[in-house]
Amino acid sequence: TYVIAQPCVDLKDKACIEECPVDCIYEGERMLYIHPDECVDCGACEPVCPVEAIYYEDDTPEEWTDYYKANVEFFEDLGSPGGAAKLGLIPKDHPLISALPPQAA
Ligand code: F3S
Ligand code: F3S
Repeated sequence: TYVIAQPCVDLKDKACIEECPVDCIYEGERMLYIHPDECVDCGACEPVCPVEAIYYEDDTPEEWTDYYKANVEFFEDLGSPGGAAKLGLIPKDHPLISALPPQAA
């Protein structure tokens, strides 16, 4: 799967959403999350993120390896919705993200 990491927090550019052929990039309050079972590893989202927040799981920079868990655990209570568009904004974040101070530049 691919993983969204810290640069997305409080920015949410959303260019990635347009590229994903399976609509598996879900919007939380402060960042977006990739569904680990719905992502087909096409990689289309990765180059379009203006802040390089998206990585293939094995290529996630050391300081952001926790974000793999954050993307997976975000969906623990959601299961596999099968499409992000119909859910829209999901009013929560993973605790790792909620605990961050404001990231906006
Ligand atoms: Fe976030 Fe980059 Fe997508 S900032 S919303 S991962 S384009
Ligand atoms: Fe979609 Fe990116 Fe996966 S475009 S299928 S989330 S690699």
